[in-house]
Amino acid sequence: MHRNKVFAVLSFSSIAVLGLSACGSGADAGQESTTVLKVAFNQNASHPQAVAITELSEKLKEATDGAYELELFPDEQLGSQAETLELVQSGAVDMAIVAGPLMEAFNPDFSVLNLPYIYDSPEHQMSVLNDPEITGDLYNSLSDSENISVIGAYHGGVRNVYTTDGPVETPADLAGQKIRIISSDTNVSMMELMGGVGTPMPQGDVYTAIQSGVLNGAENNELIFADLGHSEIAPYYSYTKHLMIPDYLVANPAVLSAFTEDQREELTSLFTESVDSELASFDEKVTEAKKKAEESGATFHEADVDAFREAVAPLLEEKINNDVTKAIFDKIDAAR
Ligand code: GCU
Repeated sequence: MHRNKVFAVLSFSSIAVLGLSACGSGADAGQESTTVLKVAFNQNASHPQAVAITELSEKLKEATDGAYELELFPDEQLGSQAETLELVQSGAVDMAIVAGPLMEAFNPDFSVLNLPYIYDSPEHQMSVLNDPEITGDLYNSLSDSENISVIGAYHGGVRNVYTTDGPVETPADLAGQKIRIISSDTNVSMMELMGGVGTPMPQGDVYTAIQSGVLNGAENNELIFADLGHSEIAPYYSYTKHLMIPDYLVANPAVLSAFTEDQREELTSLFTESVDSELASFDEKVTEAKKKAEESGATFHEADVDAFREAVAPLLEEKINNDVTKAIFDKIDAAR
């Protein structure tokens, strides 16, 4: 992990001129009061990312002598991830954690970090995502044009397919099955190549859509499967292991421009620590989630990973299609 570098690559030149003020007061009032930055989150308060943000907040408050802290709003309280991205852009919310595929709507090159089977392990994934030499320019690409600063990425689990009618072993088993995906062109094509029909939808709508038969299943990590009760209504969880996506901590650029240089350095270094602790705690949460899902009747199955990997190979050729994505992909490859 490259401590102290994530922020170094953020572009602050344009954000200073925006002149928007962060939520709360205190940034200009020395350390007399605490600026509380609202962080939107779509999962529950015991999720590893929620724990990481809470720890980050405590350490940030201490490191900035009380100038800044973070307040987490879990469980989609502030809206779906796509909605909270808009709130961050407008400045109504200071920060949000959002899934990588949603960023493709702003800059399609982000897809190179969301492709199936490109990471060998969560450790490989995380060695790439917060290395500014690999992702710095890409992350900076949205501050001026979209009013989004990417602070960095958390691990978001390994995604597998789960369905209502039986395990999925090969692409043929997904024929005609409507599988919820996070909204992106990449995911739609991916699910088509995997044999199913990708149906984009916010996470919070998935339970009802499966229950009413609009969907035959979804694809996600074990935490969502168990915690949102999907395990009760689509109980066949099959280890296709097709995706590891980044979850980005994003901020309104004006919020970050209100930080002093020292405070930014603290935030950078504490964010890096929080990324490491989030990754370290993920496996344990997966084990707990599997147990919980099994207790509610779910079953876990191996799938033919090689068959799925082969099926989605054309997507990599299609999406790694320009100098930017080729350079990033080469570095992902080199980091194996
Ligand atoms: C994962 C990911 C979230 C995302 C969710 C989803 O849990 O960590 O960021 O919102 O999947 O499928 O929507």
